[in-house]
Amino acid sequence: MANGMGTQTEAAWPLVLAAAQANRAGIDRTQPKPYAIDDSGRLTPVTEGDSRALLDWIPGKGWISCLPPEDPRTPLLDLYLPIASGHTDAPLTVGHLGQSLDGFIATTTGDSYYVTGEENVRHLHRMRALCDAVVVGAGTIAADDPQLTTRRVPGPNPLRVVLDRTRRLDDQYGVFNDGQSPTLLVCGESSNAAWPASDQVDILKLPTPEGKLDLSALIAHLRGRGCASIFVEGGGVTVSGFLEAGLLDRLQIAVAPLLIGDGRPAIRLQGMEVLGDCRRPQQRIFRMGSDILFECMLTTAGGRSTDVTPSAGEGRPDIARII
Ligand SMILES: NC(=O)c1ccc[n+]([C@@H]2O[C@H](COP(=O)([O-])OP(=O)(O)OC[C@H]3O[C@@H](n4cnc5c(N)ncnc54)[C@H](OP(=O)(O)O)[C@@H]3O)[C@@H](O)[C@H]2O)c1
Repeated sequence: MANGMGTQTEAAWPLVLAAAQANRAGIDRTQPKPYAIDDSGRLTPVTEGDSRALLDWIPGKGWISCLPPEDPRTPLLDLYLPIASGHTDAPLTVGHLGQSLDGFIATTTGDSYYVTGEENVRHLHRMRALCDAVVVGAGTIAADDPQLTTRRVPGPNPLRVVLDRTRRLDDQYGVFNDGQSPTLLVCGESSNAAWPASDQVDILKLPTPEGKLDLSALIAHLRGRGCASIFVEGGGVTVSGFLEAGLLDRLQIAVAPLLIGDGRPAIRLQGMEVLGDCRRPQQRIFRMGSDILFECMLTTAGGRSTDVTPSAGEGRPDIARII
């Protein structure tokens, strides 16, 4: 497929969205069950062996495609069905960064429009549509004033969550007053209330052990609000914070064929002296236009690490899928 965004591939999106909506609305997750699409575009259970079945719900796994591997809709379903499967008893937190070949997400001035191409930007909007909340740091709001909506794809807008420990952001940014979706402003418990919350903006004050927001407490708060799936969209400081705290189930890194030279770094963690001590997670690879998306599985549904050792020769992606 030349540009990787064929209409047949795209035809899978309504199916993914229907799967996420059915899951949110509440299906029987205790039994394996095939589902077909009804005339109104909703997923409806069918009997075992029904040729109209497009997806199976498998307890403990979530949505699985019934389509053959060669079906053009398969890559999109492979990428997104695990995200559409998150629910209260199997919540999911996914981090994403779009970085250059040399590991930067923006220039030294903070210019990041766009590191990755159109296909990856659409991917961000899809991830927002499938997740209940999208989290960004104050640096991203200050640099980009992003809307954090799903305007490039059909699908609901998520709750927007902004981490601003010291409340350095003023109230002029879009997420605080554009009315497109609710926003949760997360700050340190000792920060000054420089401007009040409105009916669009809730404020959550969190403890700041070692000068950092307690991200575990944030996740617990969001889960308590019914946010089963959380998308941590940037920037590098924020995604690194969630990764360092062991709070990401999946890490998606889109690598663009671009050299920035110097700028805002992507992932930064405490360094290791020995390569053998570094994480080498299992991964899947998807091509998005001229970018390559690595999706690293950091935990299984049971919370177990899925890292592999290089000598075992395991964990190599068996297929480079094209989205
Ligand atoms: N290519 C991409 O994928 C991508 C994605 C998003 C953004 N960007 C670009 O990246 C740049 C921003 O990224 P960045 O890494 O510099 O900043 P960032 O992650 O957007 O924001 C970092 C700030 O958020 C607050 N924060 C985040 N986690 C925290 C924690 N655990 N505890 C306390 N505070 C926390 C802190 O604010 P305080 O310093 O006020 O405490 C911190 O300085 C911008 O230029 C933007 O355009 C690129």
